[in-house]
Amino acid sequence: MAIQFHIALFVIWTGLLFSPAISDLIITKLEREIDLRSQVVRTASKLKIENNGPGLASIFQLVFPNYQAKNLAYLRAVYYEGTGKTRRNVVNLQTELVELEGMPPELTVYSVSLPHNVQEGKSITLDVFTVLVNSIIPFPEEITQADAQLVLFQDSAYYLSPYSVKIQSLKVLLPSKRVESFTKLQNAKLMENAELKESVINYGPYDNLPAFDYSPIVVHFENNHPFAVAEDLLREIEISHWGNVQVTEYYTLLHAGARNKGGFSRFDYQSRYTFNGMSSFNKLFARLPPRAHSIYYRDEIGNVSTSNLWSSSEKTELVIEPRYPMFGGWRTTFTIGYGLPLKDFLFEKEGRRFLNITFGCAIDDVVVNNLIVKVVLPEGSKDVDTFLPFPTKQSLEVKFSHLDIVGRPVIVIQKDNVVPELNEHFQVYYKFSNLSLLIEPFMLISGFFFFFIACVAYMHIDISISKSSASYLAKLQMDEVQVAIQQIQNIFNRCLAVHDLLETSLQDLSRTGDVQSCKSVRKSADGTLKILAKDVMPLLVFLQSASQASQIWPKVEELVVKEKELQEKLMLKHSTVVDSFVKKQNAREMNNRIAPIQSKLAILKQEVDGLLDVINEF
Ligand SMILES: *[C@@H]1O[C@H](CO)[C@@H](O)[C@H](O)[C@H]1NC(C)=O
Ligand SMILES: *[C@@H]1O[C@H](CO)[C@@H](O)[C@H](O)[C@H]1NC(C)=O
Repeated sequence: MAIQFHIALFVIWTGLLFSPAISDLIITKLEREIDLRSQVVRTASKLKIENNGPGLASIFQLVFPNYQAKNLAYLRAVYYEGTGKTRRNVVNLQTELVELEGMPPELTVYSVSLPHNVQEGKSITLDVFTVLVNSIIPFPEEITQADAQLVLFQDSAYYLSPYSVKIQSLKVLLPSKRVESFTKLQNAKLMENAELKESVINYGPYDNLPAFDYSPIVVHFENNHPFAVAEDLLREIEISHWGNVQVTEYYTLLHAGARNKGGFSRFDYQSRYTFNGMSSFNKLFARLPPRAHSIYYRDEIGNVSTSNLWSSSEKTELVIEPRYPMFGGWRTTFTIGYGLPLKDFLFEKEGRRFLNITFGCAIDDVVVNNLIVKVVLPEGSKDVDTFLPFPTKQSLEVKFSHLDIVGRPVIVIQKDNVVPELNEHFQVYYKFSNLSLLIEPFMLISGFFFFFIACVAYMHIDISISKSSASYLAKLQMDEVQVAIQQIQNIFNRCLAVHDLLETSLQDLSRTGDVQSCKSVRKSADGTLKILAKDVMPLLVFLQSASQASQIWPKVEELVVKEKELQEKLMLKHSTVVDSFVKKQNAREMNNRIAPIQSKLAILKQEVDGLLDVINEF
């Protein structure tokens, strides 16, 4: 792989040697820093640019080899206005992708508008920041649970520039001292070499390099930073003028580092976490806005109760712990939801309302491959406008929920490769008439009114049947019996659902080995079943005494007995499996213990289902 890199770079390099410089600017001093301490590449360059004339300079070009440009997720050029440390104003400079005549096709060019024209002989200093995704490549591509993750990064030791550079240096920041190899430049003329000090590689300084000079370097080093990538993230932000902004975020998260091979042993992982699983992650931190409330975090199985929450006046921090540690190539899907006070995020300006909220992912250090942000506005909103500090794809949708007549306008904003730097505020402006606010209450009120009228009409009809007649009383009692049976059925169905949850928890246990969460499912199941048993009591008492239930009563009685037996057997199975797990018994031993219970369970389950069917037909 490293060899392939060199070839690719060499092709670019030879193509560039003969390109002319494109203006009379020169870079008199350049300090560049490449930060490889996370899963993305962050560069910061300080450039002192001099206009060697003739004429004024208003534009400065940044060039990137195409293989980098396609991974460029963030580019920012700034100028610090004023002098002295205390009164420096940050000016963001406009950058624009341009096609330049005579530029080699292997290069992508961004044009930066200078904050003011630079006169002949004068200088200006700019800072340029970039973030590249997919540029730290795991090598080897597959590792075992016990291995550290090694990665490759390639660039040029010289700053790639269409201008000549008088003096320059490069620092490469690494996550640790563990470096497998790095390119040491063998340039006899320059005599300078690369040097590794602690966890920093210093290249240069290099003097007087011509435009487009390029010298490929490859660094192979250890990086166990969480390579957490949201392949898809959908954020739905729903505004309710009744005082709430509801945010729901749907994640598909991948560990994008070196793929795990040879499987996963939870035993090894738990006994020696630092050595067995250093390339994995088991925790993520989400920073939600202050005053976030009704926060939840759930996955396919249900609420994840192990997550922790801290809040202060500045932020709310949620710790997300997936049910199993994430190794390379593994995925998990989950949802985070929370409510925010409307007054913190919705403002008014020139007769319009606007939402002002952050755009990106709330979880630290996550790269989002495909981010979709949907802003659901209240029904009746008009003249919708968005403002984002970077380009995105946008479209409009309509969402219907209960009581909506024309639906709510939804702004859909999409962006690829969203890095934490893009987690900036954006605004959605819209017009809204307060009359629209009254539509829903009006519908509710008129709904109740019609309901009331209907009730009155019904009572009148009923009265005509004569309330004291025997047939009327019989009908009333039959209705009550039916309602009671219906409720009993519901309760038993809920018991069966709890049984299913218990079975699922056992499957999870064998998959994840998480005894604690299995036990907590059991505990909450015990609680629910107890409540259900209490709920069903009065219904049974009523049914037993109701003459019209005399036919069905024996079946109900039988159902109660069978379900109780089923429940006991299931609990026995659950305790047995958990116990075998704790004792680390092998699969055969465990099966021997469970097999007799299992067959009894199957029979009981069938009987209970059959009884429920019979009762259903009553
Ligand atoms: C999960 O938690 C949320 C918020 O705490 C709650 O509204 C919801 O009912 C819970 N769901 C389940 C299945 O427990
Ligand atoms: C949006 O909110 C941020 C943070 O509170 C603030 O800095 C920014 O000025 C606001 N933007 C607008 C347009 O109000």
